[in-house]
Amino acid sequence: MENKKRMVSGITATGTITLGNYIGAIKNFVELQDKFEMYIFVANLHAITSPIDKLKLKNNIKSMVALYFACGLDPKKVKIFIQSEVLEHTQLGWILTCNSTLGELNRMTQFKDKSTKVKSSNGTEFIPTGLLTYPLLMAADILLYDPDFVPVGKDQKQHIELTRNIAERMNSKYGEMFKIPGDYIAKIGSKIMDLQDPTKKMSKSSDNPKSYISLLDDLKEVEKKIKSAVTDSENIVKYDPEKKPGVSNLITIYSSIKNQTIEETESYFKDKDYGQFKNEVTKCVCDLISSIQENYNKLYDSKEVEQWLEEGANSARFIANKKLNKVMNLIGLNYKRK
Ligand code: AMP
Ligand code: TRP
Repeated sequence: MENKKRMVSGITATGTITLGNYIGAIKNFVELQDKFEMYIFVANLHAITSPIDKLKLKNNIKSMVALYFACGLDPKKVKIFIQSEVLEHTQLGWILTCNSTLGELNRMTQFKDKSTKVKSSNGTEFIPTGLLTYPLLMAADILLYDPDFVPVGKDQKQHIELTRNIAERMNSKYGEMFKIPGDYIAKIGSKIMDLQDPTKKMSKSSDNPKSYISLLDDLKEVEKKIKSAVTDSENIVKYDPEKKPGVSNLITIYSSIKNQTIEETESYFKDKDYGQFKNEVTKCVCDLISSIQENYNKLYDSKEVEQWLEEGANSARFIANKKLNKVMNLIGLNYKRK
């Protein structure tokens, strides 16, 4: 019997998927799906940590599901499901909440960044609690499935470290219950930067749509965004994230999509100027996006997708339920022995 290593990961349904999500996460899922047993979900519960319009949320979920498949995730190989359809996530999330401290949550840099944006109004009064506790739901998303690895972009590394700390602590307090997961971070593209401010991560929650590329952007729009991406005045295509963050970001995007090294990209563009460079980056991003969009349009309203999701949720539930029961028994929450 084959014994594949397991992976689990998810993307938050706060907007459509960006090129950063694709390169940092989905592209890896697709490449890994033959080698690993994979569980990939739409993190819809994570999308409500900050206020979000109801219709927007519904649309995001539907669109994200279709995009997963459109990007090449194969329902025969990967179990794809919607997080809230596996109730065990929230239940384990609560148990982990009771096994963690405010101190460790306060140290999460993502929380610090996001909460300072809200804080300016009035101390901590208006910071949504979910923003603080969300890494515990994420830890539950992971620990339910005993994965060997969690494929993510660099920004999630700290949350996975927290997950490991909690798992180790609970294993020694209550008895062995969780596998300690490793992170899986791609060598190229684990942090795609904002096109307008390449010192910041590309994010779908940015207020400026020119700063990110959505996989559902109109191709003309993509072209405009790449052409107006911030570079520098040197006109030399060289990778130097410190001194040339904008150009380095475009080199990373190009290398990742072309599946080649940074050095190969640098040498290819050695004698070309920024105009030619941006034209080629645009072409490679547009080729990728247009083929994804073609698949997406076929899948968006298809009945098949609903069927795949149901199968995915059933498989996920089977594993998650066994794990949750084990945890409940070890903690003493089940009074009947099972
Ligand atoms: P999120 O959109 O925050 O739910 O992120 C989903 C996945 O995409 C996570 O694995 C992130 O680390 C990854 N990701 C998000 N933004 C980027 C980015 N700009 N570059 C690389 N990976 C990213
Ligand atoms: N928190 C992740 C992000 O914002 C998304 C996510 C939620 C996730 N649960 C997860 C990623 C579990 C990996 C595993 O990027």
